[in-house]
Amino acid sequence: MFKHAIVRTPGSTLTRGITSQPELGPPDYQLALTQHSAYIRALESLGVKVSVLPPLEEYPDSCFVEDTAVLGENWAVISCPGAPSRKDETAHILPAIRELYPEVHIHRITGPGTLEGGDVMQVEDTFYVGRSARTNDEGIRQFQEILRPYGCRVVPVKLHDALHLKTAVNYLSHGRLLVAGETGGGADFAGFEKIPIPPEEAYAANSLWVNDSVLVPAGFPCVEAAIRALGYPVLPVDTSEYRKIDGGLSCLSLRAGR
Ligand code: GLY
Repeated sequence: MFKHAIVRTPGSTLTRGITSQPELGPPDYQLALTQHSAYIRALESLGVKVSVLPPLEEYPDSCFVEDTAVLGENWAVISCPGAPSRKDETAHILPAIRELYPEVHIHRITGPGTLEGGDVMQVEDTFYVGRSARTNDEGIRQFQEILRPYGCRVVPVKLHDALHLKTAVNYLSHGRLLVAGETGGGADFAGFEKIPIPPEEAYAANSLWVNDSVLVPAGFPCVEAAIRALGYPVLPVDTSEYRKIDGGLSCLSLRAGR
């Protein structure tokens, strides 16, 4: 059960966010704000209390708060983003994390380690961590050391193409994974029931289980139907403007209390 989420309103510099798909054009800022409000309302409708942080104009990608930390039930880890332009976003997330966790249980990944929260997928007490262009072996090693005393297991997953692990794989519940692309058939996830995502709907692999419902990016009918068929209530949320700068549903929030 997620009780709390942290989000950050995008600044107008969102239009300069990092993107691997410049052909999609820059985000429409006003539409992005409207979509952000709808995202917050969707979380609130599922019983989540949402803390909304103010825009940080100097950090175009700072609305993707998920990358700046990983939140457990009784611990938090401040990340060390691998994208140079995002490194200092972590200092700005700290005050909101201090509202939720005592200092003694707030930990940090430090350089040369890098780790972004988009690479971390929780399945109960196991944390799968993508080894990506943003998260390196040293970051994963530090994360493992931090979580060991809490009885949590860390499983590294090698990525080749995906920006983050959760770009391609997301856990729903009851042993089910949404999988797209390179990691779809990976032995790393043996034992899970895999829900394959067709290539043309790969973006929707980043759907978000929240308190027994699933937020699905709007406009991906196959994924929506597959999730509904499993019995989950589905909330479509439009993230078209965030997609233009490689942002997905999960990136837009940090969730606590599972
Ligand atoms: N534009 C999101 C990211 O690259 O982190």
